[in-house]
Amino acid sequence: MSWLAQRLALHPLTKWQRKRFVLSGIALTLSGVFSLIVMMFPTVIWEKSNAKINSLTPDIANGKYIYHLSGCSACHTEHVPGAKELAGGKRLRTPFGILVAPNVTPDTLSGIGGWTVEEFADATRLGISPDGEHYYPAFPYTSYSRMTDQDIVDLKAYIDTQVAPVAEKAEERDLLFPFSIRYGMGMWKLLYLDEEPKTSKVEGEQAKRGEYLAEVLGHCGECHSPRDIMGGVIRSRWMSGVPVGEFNPAPNITNTVDGTLHWTDKQWLDFLKTGVLPDGNYTGGEMALVVEEITSHLSKEDADAMVKYFRSLTDEGGTNAVDPD
Ligand code: HEC
Ligand code: HEC
Repeated sequence: MSWLAQRLALHPLTKWQRKRFVLSGIALTLSGVFSLIVMMFPTVIWEKSNAKINSLTPDIANGKYIYHLSGCSACHTEHVPGAKELAGGKRLRTPFGILVAPNVTPDTLSGIGGWTVEEFADATRLGISPDGEHYYPAFPYTSYSRMTDQDIVDLKAYIDTQVAPVAEKAEERDLLFPFSIRYGMGMWKLLYLDEEPKTSKVEGEQAKRGEYLAEVLGHCGECHSPRDIMGGVIRSRWMSGVPVGEFNPAPNITNTVDGTLHWTDKQWLDFLKTGVLPDGNYTGGEMALVVEEITSHLSKEDADAMVKYFRSLTDEGGTNAVDPD
């Protein structure tokens, strides 16, 4: 051994080196413990919903509106003839494999019927299951994270009372290893789950309402923003499109020359209502579903607010978004 040490010109550690060695050992252990907590006990890090949420009175009519504007059915209903609403089964392609949307009907055994309001709130806004596990972000809780308490309560009341329970589990997911390990999502969420608005330029009550409709409920940015290699949305390129050839391409919809600058307000409103583009063609694919499930349900006032919001996404200063940190 000493022969090998000599050949490699290894010297015994100095006192200072030994100290550094021990200190980095401690740091590594601490960060390991921290990672384990994040991964396995998410509620230590993320503040769960306040019990106050139970005292709110549900408004089922608003719940129906929120249900549509947030597009739950776009993913949780299989869009094939005879499919039952929210019964799950739709296969969602993610860069990491196929996920199957679960049954979220009010059935107590196969769906979410037995859940409390708080459990529902934590699943939808924090991606944490009643058992304390992390959901994959294909469930767009990174957008829903800013949903108001009242909207959550109303949405749950609507699903509980107006959607028929379906006593059948949706088939299990099929993710590639290591993404099949849920614990890892904890670290991801630490990086990408926050409750900050995505843009800094939104001013005025109407545009702020539009921001809530587009960023939070409509989760438009989930598809229309490019992502980094870890699958997190790049804030500085918010809504600026995902080029063809990449996973899930979607056009730039910011108020810029490459986006929707040349659209009139009327063209925007017609698009949101029917999916018709300024050139007279209709949008297709996933966006046709978004129009059907989400934007066609906007009230006139809210459609105006959404357009106002998109108008604020200019590229003055080269970016429409808040600083990445
Ligand atoms: C873009 C697709 C998509 C949309 C939109 C969506 N979900 Fe989901 N949802 C999923 C996926 C995928 C999962 C499973 C995640 C996992 O297994 O980690 C899920 C999981 C859930 C769960 C957990 C179910 C369980 O059995 O643990 C609930 C509750 C839920 N969604 C409710 C909703 C509600 C309410 C809405 C509308 C506000 C909604 N989802 C919108 C894709 C979506
Ligand atoms: C599930 C992914 C997805 C979501 C969510 C989504 N979009 Fe789209 N969007 C697309 C795709 C894909 C296209 C291109 C469709 C096509 O090829 O016709 C598109 C096209 C569009 C276009 C047409 C742009 C053009 O220049 O042709 C507009 C405008 C638009 N989306 C607005 C929205 C708004 C507003 C929301 C939120 C309410 C939204 N999208 C949410 C995927 C999505």
